[in-house]
Amino acid sequence: MTQPIAVLGGTGPEGFGLALRWAQAGETVIIGSRDAQRAQSAADKIKQRVGASAKISGAENVVACGLADLLVLTIPFEGHVALLKQLKPALRPGSIVIDATVPLAASVGGRASRTLGVWQGSAAQETAELVPAGVAVVAAFQNVGAEMLNAEGPVDCDVVVCSDDIEAGRTVRKLAAGVAGVRAIDGGKLENARILEQITALMIGLNIRHKGHSGIRITGLPPAAYVGP
Ligand SMILES: NC(=O)c1ccc[n+]([C@@H]2O[C@H](COP(=O)([O-])OP(=O)(O)OC[C@H]3O[C@@H](n4cnc5c(N)ncnc54)[C@H](OP(=O)(O)O)[C@@H]3O)[C@@H](O)[C@H]2O)c1
Repeated sequence: MTQPIAVLGGTGPEGFGLALRWAQAGETVIIGSRDAQRAQSAADKIKQRVGASAKISGAENVVACGLADLLVLTIPFEGHVALLKQLKPALRPGSIVIDATVPLAASVGGRASRTLGVWQGSAAQETAELVPAGVAVVAAFQNVGAEMLNAEGPVDCDVVVCSDDIEAGRTVRKLAAGVAGVRAIDGGKLENARILEQITALMIGLNIRHKGHSGIRITGLPPAAYVGP
């Protein structure tokens, strides 16, 4: 990628792990947070891990959004609508919003192994309703656990990418394949995001039951279906 990637909510484990992996791959990354100092301190931690050449900085979420056309949402579902409304004036046509949000019941005090019903069908489809015209929404990364992203070594997981915008989906598959170990796969339309989000709830249940950190691999497709390193 030649363009910067803003990871909003990148102070949390999921966004931090993605930002770390992209910084390791040489991408320019901006960590977003509700608090600029918290964002900067996360960026500093990534710089310590990756080295002084890492192209990473931190900014308040709306400021970060103004600095990039590739945006990744890694915030809990309870903050989803409010953040998107806040970002709306800063979102430019041609931008891509990548949504990794999972609407876990834990957001309203329920179990992390269950999802909430979202009127639009999924958190990513809710995002599509809230962004201005000309902004593409792509669902991805719901099934990559933060523990894997923040550990050393390649990530043992595939990333299924869903979008109604063919070009944006292609861009995000390339971005996903920049995470060491990941193969990205075209998962079709954005409406399939509801399935990706449900799979995460299942994976959380598996992690609790078996005390591990699960990932998914999609097998049996022709080689052309996989975008890898
Ligand atoms: N953790 C995983 O393994 C994993 C895997 C796949 C998908 N996901 C999804 O990725 C998202 C982030 O996961 P996470 O575990 O990193 O979450 P998290 O730690 O709960 O939250 C991430 C960041 O979001 C910001 N935030 C918290 N509440 C917010 C609110 N109400 N409004 C706006 N920002 C808020 C916080 O940053 P500031 O306080 O700095 O603003 C926080 O550091 C979730 O939707 C989750 O379902 C997580």
